[in-house]
Amino acid sequence: MKILVTGGAGYIASHTNLELLNAGYDVVAFDNFSNSSIESIHRVERLTGKKISFYETDLLDKEALTDIFSKENIDAVIHFAGLKAVGESCEIPLKYFKNNLSGTITLLEVMESFGVKNLVFSSSATVYGDPETVPVTEDFPLSATNPYGRTKLMIEEMLRDIYKADSSWNIAILRYFNPIGAHESGEIGEDPNGIPNNLVPYIAKVASGVLDKIHVFGNDYDTPDGTGVRDYIHVVDLSLGHIKAIEKLQENPGLVTYNLGTGVGYSVFDIIHNYEKACGKKLPYVIDPRRPGDIAVTYADPSKALKELGWKAERGIDKMCEDTYRWQSKYPNGYKSK
Ligand code: WQD
Repeated sequence: MKILVTGGAGYIASHTNLELLNAGYDVVAFDNFSNSSIESIHRVERLTGKKISFYETDLLDKEALTDIFSKENIDAVIHFAGLKAVGESCEIPLKYFKNNLSGTITLLEVMESFGVKNLVFSSSATVYGDPETVPVTEDFPLSATNPYGRTKLMIEEMLRDIYKADSSWNIAILRYFNPIGAHESGEIGEDPNGIPNNLVPYIAKVASGVLDKIHVFGNDYDTPDGTGVRDYIHVVDLSLGHIKAIEKLQENPGLVTYNLGTGVGYSVFDIIHNYEKACGKKLPYVIDPRRPGDIAVTYADPSKALKELGWKAERGIDKMCEDTYRWQSKYPNGYKSK
């Protein structure tokens, strides 16, 4: 079975490519390298001893996508490609609407024209907005608090309409909580451009001396220690969720939606302390004001994915921090490290 992975050189995609190859799937991938490197593709090929059929292509380039579909016999698509910086999306919303929405429409048009109607879509827990209670189940009300989140929500709505009009599509919408960690080998991991926006990549840069201190965004939330609580999930567990979703599509399930999280919430201080354990040193931090748009608490109820996919996150917070640290110490400057 041949799977096309869009945004195939990125963080979650690279770990998913590795699991797909290990599970015996053929992988075709494309990326425009806007926030990724060809090196992740090479490393996955080295780790698995298998080849990825790779194209340097933009999601908006319909001709190039058509060319890939005509050369490769694609059975299903895992759609990761998209911009994902919340702050930037508030400053340049059109860029997000164009890339994420037009890009996805282009992909769906090409898929339809080749009769490929099996899709796994990378959605996000951001579609729950600020949930009234936790844990969050898939039937909670949906809303968006920023343009990035709105693109995820709009794509979900698009997919639900497409499925309503044509039930021969099989679509798995996966709502990720907070992916962190890296492959055990330390050879692939998260490599954001510039100063990281997200907590764990930021901590990793402080631990390796690239940045001088952690900024904790608010310690006056209504949470046990006052800092924000999130459901951090190991990227390898998340990737294995995609393998289960691809298996599910083979049963012709129609449109299905799953939370991919652990069901456990950790605070910012919990993460800092666990990372300190992993790297064996104290990490300096300061308390800053709350970051606009942040919510106090969210974590998943992942029981639907267990029941219907037979998937459950197995890797705990210690492993998430240890694996991040291994990758960060081996390659302090990510794929650009010598
Ligand atoms: C986690 C916690 C911060 C940075 C975002 C997007 C979401 C999804 C994943 C993906 C919060 C605190 C953070 C820092 C801090 N998108 N924090 N200092 O905000 O839960 O989710 O990324 O593509 O849509 O919104 O993740 O890692 O940024 O923050 O104190 O330097 O850490 O306030 O409580 P978030 P995060």
